[in-house]
Amino acid sequence: MTVTGPSGSGKSTLVFDVLAQGDAAGPENAVSGCGHLDRIVAVEQTPIARMKRSNVATYADVWAPIRAAFAAAPEARSRGLSARAFSFNTPGGRCETCEGMGTVASNLLFFKDVQAPCPTCHGRRFHDKVLEATLDGRSIADVLALSVDEAQDAFASHPKIARTLGLLADVGLGYLELGQPLTTLSGGEGQRLKLARELLGGGRERTLYLLDEPTRGLHPQDVEHFLALLDRLVDAGNTVVAVEHDHRVLCASDWVIDLGPGGGYAGGRLVFAGTPAALAAHGTGVTAACLRRTLGR
Ligand SMILES: Nc1ncnc2c1ncn2[C@@H]1O[C@H](COP(=O)(O)OP(=O)(O)OP(=O)(O)O)[C@@H](O)[C@H]1O
Ligand SMILES: [Mg+2]
Repeated sequence: MTVTGPSGSGKSTLVFDVLAQGDAAGPENAVSGCGHLDRIVAVEQTPIARMKRSNVATYADVWAPIRAAFAAAPEARSRGLSARAFSFNTPGGRCETCEGMGTVASNLLFFKDVQAPCPTCHGRRFHDKVLEATLDGRSIADVLALSVDEAQDAFASHPKIARTLGLLADVGLGYLELGQPLTTLSGGEGQRLKLARELLGGGRERTLYLLDEPTRGLHPQDVEHFLALLDRLVDAGNTVVAVEHDHRVLCASDWVIDLGPGGGYAGGRLVFAGTPAALAAHGTGVTAACLRRTLGR
């Protein structure tokens, strides 16, 4: 389902203030039908994590299997290295000067602290012994620098890792580096990463996903991929409600709630509710007019 309407018409308020609370907030915020749902998940464009130790690989749960793959390789076994040695979060194999981060904060008096490459490991994050234990010619630091797309090729023979990375690529995140800290992701990137992880979890719960302009920042070609991801969520028995202006998302939804007619005091009213086809055919208001223009009718 898509919620549309001009800026200030009340979309975010309806979806993230009212709907998101479900039936827990009492009679003045009544939401009916919650019995058909097991949980409500709001996926807003806010940072996923403030921890600079979390990165794309750890969040998508591919980091543990990647470390296991390194530890199982002959290069690690002959050096007596376990999966733990390939962790940058626990002491053992990591560089202790930078505690596995590859950078150290240097204080420049008067200026904000800047991150400089670690003087001990020179940004490589691990001891030489760990870096020498390669997998298919790559060190663990090399793998952290791979993009999701590159890593998908590199781990093609590891089905579980490749499947996860393939899903990230499907939602338009193929260019992210595995070692990229979550703190540096854009709002849209974070939102898609979160959704991809929901799909990976593969829970059988009936979840209501609330999304805030999920296609913002997506290349038109990636919008198609993103719609495929939403279809998969719905096919798995979930419901998706998106605040969205993109006409492809609007047209792909089963139902449209159009708010308006304007913003602020001129907003907050239901202008239209129905299928996208009905909205285009006989909807009134700015959204319907826009949709007709886009579709050339
Ligand atoms: N706490 C508040 N006090 C007063 N006005 C508020 C408050 N919260 C929201 N509003 C007003 O309510 C209206 C609806 O806000 P809302 O954020 O739901 O709009 P929106 O449709 O999501 O807009 P946009 O597309 O710009 O995100 C706006 O005019 C906003 O200024
Ligand atoms: Mg809004």
